[in-house]
Amino acid sequence: MAVRPVLKMGERSLLERSLELEQFGTEELDQLLRDMWDTMAAENGAGLAAPQIGVNLRVVIFGYQTNPRYPEAPTVPETVLINPQITPLDDQTEEAWEGCLSVPGMRGLVPRYLRIRYQGFNQLGDLIDREVDGFHARVVQHECDHLDGVLYPQRITNMAYFGFCEELENNEYLQPQPGDDL
Ligand code: NI
Repeated sequence: MAVRPVLKMGERSLLERSLELEQFGTEELDQLLRDMWDTMAAENGAGLAAPQIGVNLRVVIFGYQTNPRYPEAPTVPETVLINPQITPLDDQTEEAWEGCLSVPGMRGLVPRYLRIRYQGFNQLGDLIDREVDGFHARVVQHECDHLDGVLYPQRITNMAYFGFCEELENNEYLQPQPGDDL
């Protein structure tokens, strides 16, 4: 078990574009992915990008089978996604509340494409090619933004809908979302 510290907003390296991974199936990649899964589990995250633990490579993980806090929420398959590409399937967007392990204790209302195709590779270099929608599509867009140095507050269109969880929960703004921080 190697839980690594999660870098917080304000850390400059979170704003950098991460580099393509060039070698698959290596011991270094295995170790990175073990640390990422351990860290995501320890922080109760639903997704994590390598730059969040200080490794500026285009590697993300996400997914969960069931979330006890949101038993009705759809599951997202546990996925390792490397060198990803996202293609929106149409122009439709949807706003929903998001949180991020690098912005702890806060939530914001973020527009994302509702339907996307995403492509990339798993840790062995096998192709992943999926068409998804809803929360699954949101998680992928959030994690892939980390690889381009973008944090979700930069996507918020109305800053009236950004704040601390404990305050938002006291007003009608905050609708609970499946999953936890991303
Ligand atoms: Ni995040």
